[in-house]
Amino acid sequence: MMKPLFAVLLAAVLLPAMVVAATLPPLPKGYTGWKKSERKLVTDKNSLFYGIHYIYADKKALKGYQAGNKFPEGSTIVVDYFNIKTGSAGDGPKNMTVLMRKDKRKKETGGWHFVGYGADGKPSGLDPVDTCFGCHNKDAAQKDFVISTIKDFKP
Ligand code: HEC
Repeated sequence: MMKPLFAVLLAAVLLPAMVVAATLPPLPKGYTGWKKSERKLVTDKNSLFYGIHYIYADKKALKGYQAGNKFPEGSTIVVDYFNIKTGSAGDGPKNMTVLMRKDKRKKETGGWHFVGYGADGKPSGLDPVDTCFGCHNKDAAQKDFVISTIKDFKP
């Protein structure tokens, strides 16, 4: 008799999490083929961005950067973060990925989806308002909430 009840309880716990995950945009396929920024190295261990990262912009986002950070609906920007490999010039293992996609429905975060993913590429469920928007709002409210600029991309 316990089994069906257990299944119901399990579903009650898992389903809301699955619904949330399903509404988050998945990592776009082939984004590493998009316009890529310079390699960015942050050696300050107190920084959230300690490590190496690369920014990728799709065609719409690139137009947005070129227009001085005025991004059209659907623009997508992805950042891959890697650990520093001691004693080597190369990159260590990937540790996370973040994404911004322009979506006018996301009013509470400046008209952008903010999503964090683990090294496995699955959404990590970070809260976009509490975890992401604060910094982007503080640093880039005049730049459509995008902190990097066209200068971060090779010509
Ligand atoms: C501590 C402040 C801070 C927090 C918190 C933060 N970001 Fe950022 N983010 C930055 C900075 C600074 C850059 C620019 C990095 C660069 O130019 O190399 C950036 C860049 C980005 C970019 C590339 C586009 C841009 O704005 O330059 C994306 C996408 C992004 N962040 C998504 C996220 C997501 C998703 C979260 C939440 C999981 C998040 N960020 C949380 C500070 C932050």
